[in-house]
Amino acid sequence: MLGLVLSAVAAVYVLKKIQDWSSPTPTAQDFHYYGSTGTQQQAGSYPTHSTRVNFGVGVVEDDVPTTQLRKKELVLEKEQIIEVKWIKHYCSSHRILLVGEGDFSFSASLAMAFGSATNMVATSLDPLGFLKENYMKAISNIGELKSRGCIVLHRIDATKMADNSLKGMIFDRIVYNFPHAGFTNRDKPREDQIREHQTLISLFMKNAKKMIKKDGEIHISHKSYGFFLEWKIESLGSQNGLRVIEKSQFDLSDYPGYNTKFGYGGDKNFECHPSKTYKFGF
Ligand SMILES: C[S@@+](CC[C@H](N)C(=O)[O-])C[C@H]1O[C@@H](n2cnc3c(N)ncnc32)[C@H](O)[C@@H]1O
Repeated sequence: MLGLVLSAVAAVYVLKKIQDWSSPTPTAQDFHYYGSTGTQQQAGSYPTHSTRVNFGVGVVEDDVPTTQLRKKELVLEKEQIIEVKWIKHYCSSHRILLVGEGDFSFSASLAMAFGSATNMVATSLDPLGFLKENYMKAISNIGELKSRGCIVLHRIDATKMADNSLKGMIFDRIVYNFPHAGFTNRDKPREDQIREHQTLISLFMKNAKKMIKKDGEIHISHKSYGFFLEWKIESLGSQNGLRVIEKSQFDLSDYPGYNTKFGYGGDKNFECHPSKTYKFGF
C-alpha cells in the first residue's frame, strides 16, 4: 500500500516538472512589477531621486517558488533597467529644451544632476562672444554641458524658433526661466514696458506650443510680486490656449550652481525670491 502511495506522489512530481519547463515564455502579467514611481534614492549631493524603470518585462520579486525558476531566468535575461534621475520638476527621460539661458548655469545644474545630458538642448539668444565677455562661468558651463552630450545653441530667438532655427524639434518640456525683454524701455510708460515683456512671453508661448508633445509642458519661472505680477502670466497662457497645470514656489537652492543673470550685460545675479514656476499645457 505504502509503495503505491509513494509511486503516485513521484508521478505527480515528475508531471509537474515537465509542465514547468514546457510552459510558454512568461508574459509580463505573470510577474509583479515595480511601478514607474518605485524606489527613490539620493544621487550625490544633488536634490535628485532615481526611479527604477522597467521597460518591457516585469521584475520578479524574490519569493517566487523554485518551480518557477525557469520563468525567472527568462525574465531576468530580457530585463532592462534604466535609472531615471530627477531634479525638482525635471527628469532625465524627458526631452528638454531650455531657452533664454544666461550663463547656462541652470542647464548645467540639470545636466550635473542627470549625469548625462543627451536629452537636453540648451540655448541662448546671446551669441557666444557676449557670453564670454559678460559671464565668468559661461564657457565652463557650456563645456560641462557639451561633455555630457547636451546640444548647445546660440542666437536662438524664442519668439521665432518653431518656424526657423528649431523647426521640427519636439520636446516633453520647454523651459524659459525669468523671461525679460530688456531694460532699454525704462523711460517708457509702465504700460508700454509691461506690453513689451508680455509680447515676448506670448510669442514664446505660441512657438513653444508648436514644439511640445500632446502631454508636454511649458515652464516659465517668474517673480511673484509687484511689477512682475502685472505681466499677468496666467492670462497670457489662456490667451494662447494654454492652461495652468501647476504653480509652484521657485526655490533657487533646488538647482545647485544656478546663478540668475539679468541678461543684458554684467555678471551680477538678481534676487529671485519670491518667484513661481508656472507649468502650462494643453
Ligand atoms: C532676466 S534674463 C534671465 C536669464 C536666464 N534665463 C537666467 O535665469 O539666468 C532674460 C533673458 O532672456 C533672454 N531673451 C530676451 N529676449 C529673448 C528672445 N526673444 N529669445 C530668447 N531669449 C531672449 C535674454 O537674452 C536674457 O538672457
